Amino acid sequence: MSSSADEGGLRLFFALWPDEAVRLALVRISHKLALPPGAKRVAPDNLHLTLAFIGTQGGEVQECLEQQAGMISVPPFTMNFDELGFFAKPQVVWLGDKHPPEPLLQLAQSLKQAQLQCGLEPESRPFQTHLTLQRKVRHPSEPFRPDPITWPVNEFVLVASETLPEGARYRIIRRFSLHSA
Ligand code: 2AM
Repeated sequence: MSSSADEGGLRLFFALWPDEAVRLALVRISHKLALPPGAKRVAPDNLHLTLAFIGTQGGEVQECLEQQAGMISVPPFTMNFDELGFFAKPQVVWLGDKHPPEPLLQLAQSLKQAQLQCGLEPESRPFQTHLTLQRKVRHPSEPFRPDPITWPVNEFVLVASETLPEGARYRIIRRFSLHSA
């Protein structure tokens, strides 16, 4: 049976979701980073690393994506967040890994393949490793070298996003374990 909320479908994305220890470390960095005027910190419960943004899809496509994602074989890996960056167009300040681990890139690529298999058109730009800390940033504050965060990753998740008056709310729909073939 489909788990899509209604006929309108769900706004979906695949992500890495931090455990509590990593989340606390991320919040610590987020609060060390000055908030420029008009900018907003991502709420602690919403911190995540997007692997693939899907958009609103009905139950059939969702089921296809879940099936394809369940067939991905990529080994567990470790992220090392060691840099801060800024994207001017979406106006976000993010935390990244200067040397993204190969399995992370394989996972992002496999999720593009999954979208193709389900009749979707994946993002054509290369995957950019970033975990958004602040939104609506016009001019980033003074950069600093963040305390490195080590994040052992052994799963990825499919998430539904709802836009509420108070901001985005994310709900994990399904978890997928990482494993070698
Ligand atoms: P982000 O990864 O830079 O934070 C859910 O909306 C997540 O998907 C967000 O974390 C968001 O950006 C990412 N995302 C990527 N492309 C998007 C798009 N076109 N619209 C909304 N969110 C997008």
